[in-house]
Amino acid sequence: MSEKKEHWGSSFGFIMAMAGSAVGLGNIWRFSFITGQNGGSAFLLVYLGCVFLVGIPIMLCELTMGRAAQSNPVRTFHKLGPERSNLSSTIGVLALVCAISFLSFGHFFYAALFAIAGASFITFGWVTLGVLYGAITPLFILAYYGVVGGWTLIYVWKSVTGQLNVHTVAEATAVMTPIIMTPKGYWATPLIATLAFMLTTAVIIWIGVQKGIERFSKIFMPLLALLLVVLIFRGLTLEGASKGLRFLFVPDFSQLSGRSCLAALGHAFYSLSLGMGITITYGAYLKRDNNLPRSTVIIALLDTLVSVMAGLAIFPVVFAMGFAPDSGPSLIFKVLPLAFQKLPLSTVWNIIFFVAVLIAALTSAVSLLEGPVCLMVEELKWKRSRVLLVLVPILCFVSCVITLASGDYSNFPKLGEFIQKTFLTTQGSLFDTFDTGACQWLIPIACFLTLLYAGWVWGPKEAVKEMRSGSTGAMDTHCWHLLSGVHEYNVTGDPSPLSPCVIWAFFIRFISPILVLLAFLDGLGVFR
Ligand code: TRP
Repeated sequence: MSEKKEHWGSSFGFIMAMAGSAVGLGNIWRFSFITGQNGGSAFLLVYLGCVFLVGIPIMLCELTMGRAAQSNPVRTFHKLGPERSNLSSTIGVLALVCAISFLSFGHFFYAALFAIAGASFITFGWVTLGVLYGAITPLFILAYYGVVGGWTLIYVWKSVTGQLNVHTVAEATAVMTPIIMTPKGYWATPLIATLAFMLTTAVIIWIGVQKGIERFSKIFMPLLALLLVVLIFRGLTLEGASKGLRFLFVPDFSQLSGRSCLAALGHAFYSLSLGMGITITYGAYLKRDNNLPRSTVIIALLDTLVSVMAGLAIFPVVFAMGFAPDSGPSLIFKVLPLAFQKLPLSTVWNIIFFVAVLIAALTSAVSLLEGPVCLMVEELKWKRSRVLLVLVPILCFVSCVITLASGDYSNFPKLGEFIQKTFLTTQGSLFDTFDTGACQWLIPIACFLTLLYAGWVWGPKEAVKEMRSGSTGAMDTHCWHLLSGVHEYNVTGDPSPLSPCVIWAFFIRFISPILVLLAFLDGLGVFR
């Protein structure tokens, strides 16, 4: 990944690579549990809105930035425009103001975070955003992705050894609780599993068998899709499945809150792998003849399709089995073994499913680590092994702490006290704090700032110029002409006022940032 001359072999290869990064635990594990927690159908609608109104414009924006700069996220912000602008200094000052207000409430940890970010924005300008993008957010996510990876690993083991042959809700819960909630006395297994997952990821990065893993995932991803289809079929033919369908497709807006909207937005970014430099990095490997808008729409649709399929596979079963849909991160781990039990050869299904999920998790984890490692190799001029020797122990340590504090803190009350004081989490675990921190804070903030950067500093004019190359003039054609099929592609002169590029530019300047900001403020409780 570090050779900048490299390019994707084909548009199809690029789309598959992007889809490979986008489709992961987010689509099966995370999508299903947050949809369950936020009331189903209405949340799904908001989620689709977020994908189309905010996700697609930002993905297009990141890809365009990456292709224009042909370099890593830090260099991208360095190359595309002035490193510092009034806007970046204003952001820095605002962050410092936040830091001071946190300090006045005695929240030292957050005060320190905002102070560092603010000082960095004032001193280094937009490059700070590149660092946030390219290194901090992916590592932050990886730290807790590893915990879920560990759970998956345990489930693979349990399915191989036949321990997943559960018949009742109580049995399923009994298998899952020691793993996910780490009750008193049970912490060694999850800890070892998390470490094993993290080290496997690190070893793959170390020996660089990325190609092997990619080929592997090309087999297992379709298999995962196939399994989802089988599961959908199984779920829909269960008695009581219609309740699940109603939950997923008949909107009930009373279930929707400000938090849900922010959760939907955060998940759209997460699922599309936005706000993490990976899209910029992938865009940098694109040739100029790639049709960026088309690729973006295809990738976003593929990712959303997989999520909806996972929802269709999971919720009818959840309701038919009498589970509550809002049981949180443990949802798929409890429900699927029970559902498989109703099929012949249940052990085989369990094994294949959890192995497929494990591989999806592993390929995502590998690319989450590869981004920051590459960035550090390029920018710090360190050897790959040195970067890994520094990063991996820290990552493993953080992951282990999250694992130990993923349920309640009954094993380590002192640790719990410390964590609650530092992160101000009175409810929920450290795991939840990381999940919320990444999806509701880090990623939305990174995406918001990118929108400001692309819309107001780099400028839509440059962006559209880059986007035009490869898009056969479709970006400049009036939408009616495109939709009606009478497309007289108009590449010379000004774009038509109702053309995709004008609409996109308007979105990234006004609509998307305002939507992100509103959802963010709503999530903070400003409108309540
Ligand atoms: N989109 C991935 C998923 O749905 C998670 C993810 C977020 C990711 N950002 C990423 C994976 C960057 C690889 C690279 O699970």
